[in-house]
Amino acid sequence: MHITVMGTGYVGLVVGAGLADFGLIVTCVDIDKDKIKSLAEGKVPIYEPGLQELVRRNVERGRLSFSADIKHSIQNSLVVFVAVGTDARPDGLADLSQIWSAADLIAESMEEYKVVVVKSSVPVGTAASLNARIRQSLSSRSPGTGPSEFDVVSNPEFLREGSAVEDFFHPNRIVIGTASERAVAIAKDIYRPLYLIETPFVFTTWESAELTKYAANAFLAVKVSFVNELANLCDAVGPSADVHVIAHSLGLDRRIGPKFLHPGPGFGGYCFPKDTRALVQAARSYGEEFRTVEAAVAVNDRQFQRVVDKVRKGLESLEGKVVAVLGLSFKMNTDDVRESRSLKICEALLAENCSLRLFDPAAMAQARRVLKDDRVTFCSDSDEAVEGSDAVVIGTEWNEFRNLDLRRVKEHMRGDLLVDARNIFDIAKAKSVGFRYYGIGRGGDEQKAPALLDPVSRAIANAPVDEEPESEAERLAVAESKVWFERHGGQGIPHEEVLADFGLASKDLRKQKG
Ligand SMILES: NC(=O)c1ccc[n+]([C@@H]2O[C@H](COP(=O)([O-])OP(=O)(O)OC[C@H]3O[C@@H](n4cnc5c(N)ncnc54)[C@H](O)[C@@H]3O)[C@@H](O)[C@H]2O)c1
Repeated sequence: MHITVMGTGYVGLVVGAGLADFGLIVTCVDIDKDKIKSLAEGKVPIYEPGLQELVRRNVERGRLSFSADIKHSIQNSLVVFVAVGTDARPDGLADLSQIWSAADLIAESMEEYKVVVVKSSVPVGTAASLNARIRQSLSSRSPGTGPSEFDVVSNPEFLREGSAVEDFFHPNRIVIGTASERAVAIAKDIYRPLYLIETPFVFTTWESAELTKYAANAFLAVKVSFVNELANLCDAVGPSADVHVIAHSLGLDRRIGPKFLHPGPGFGGYCFPKDTRALVQAARSYGEEFRTVEAAVAVNDRQFQRVVDKVRKGLESLEGKVVAVLGLSFKMNTDDVRESRSLKICEALLAENCSLRLFDPAAMAQARRVLKDDRVTFCSDSDEAVEGSDAVVIGTEWNEFRNLDLRRVKEHMRGDLLVDARNIFDIAKAKSVGFRYYGIGRGGDEQKAPALLDPVSRAIANAPVDEEPESEAERLAVAESKVWFERHGGQGIPHEEVLADFGLASKDLRKQKG
């Protein structure tokens, strides 16, 4: 079977190479001629573990090729996968211009029956519109010059950048949205190797398939924002509240599950930010609200600022400070910086007049295109980046940062602040080499007042513990406070004044006053 994949981005290239590995004959096409040229020369333009090898193997075996002649490729294929971009418009709606131009190219090129498979993430209703658009285009041709039959399938992609190849071959499910039995049979043929490893298949309508994709991303985004708000609360409660312990405990509940419960600077990347917004907007266009997702977006929009706040707090002022940021991609194992929270942190630090020293294992070229500022130094490794810096921020959780020699990092710095926006370090270790460590929701950065106790209890917590309480209420408060007191390593707030505010006095004071 011959297949054309339109779009050779993070999805199209993995899908094209993956389908070729299934034994299908695949041509990947793109309107970006430079991309096609470099792919044809054997250069894979993105960093994705395992992709280079997958592409090389299938090109060598003659199953995978690259072409800028889109029309010719479509004409030679039974199936056309559409994996073009669906960026966000300023109003949050999905920009479907790449989808429509792909649809027009398909319609123009069509000479016989085709299956058009929409891989791109699109709002509900897109497959129906695409179907109508192609039909309209075909009907405007002179009679007898084109096919009357084609099918549109919604087949959303769920792969994750950084593990895209692994995800393609071991998906959690394949969703096929179409009413056409003929298209279902062809889709089953295409994905036969996955059938053999018992991948669940869901056969459904266009609309359900489209909504499944947005719903999956939105649900995960809600989970991320939830744990980030939980982490922020832990920061406020103080060192005894550790978001990792709570998240671990939450994740052991099988109804919740352990994934996507890692706090950080918020979700980024190409998909979550735009797909959550597009879902909210899609709901509005149907006269509905999607408030959980709206809240997740709002929380995410300000979460990276928490990291900036921590740097500001740690350095007292950001003006003129030198900050090293390690990790620029939106997550580890990718060079993709689209909507990267780390870059947002960089931009915010620049806005407050910091100088930045940056390093990322894979995303330097992409970051250079975004951060064009004289105050930015792009460094060749983390040693160079931390040199002379007042603070180090961990922007992306790359494995190589987890194993940094923190003692050496500290020695090369001018300052002693470590803002670990990905919580990759052991707090005690970081502190033992002289860092002031600020994480996310681990209580390492600041000791706060025991907000759970009322002021009277707080004051009593600091009273000598061997005194006899005068009332049952006081006895209970002392008992509760003792627990808090011990958990916090005996630290508390000596507040005669607090008691005084309540018309009370500590026993010492009462004794003094006779
Ligand atoms: N990146 C991900 O992790 C991921 C995961 C699942 C789904 N998706 C969805 O898949 C789609 C593609 O994402 P991506 O990250 O690969 O995007 P991308 O921007 O990396 O790639 C899109 C490619 O399509 C090409 N293109 C645009 N119009 C074209 C046309 N008419 N004909 C041929 N090529 C054309 C562009 O030149 C570009 O190379 C999006 O809808 C995205 O939401 C992405």
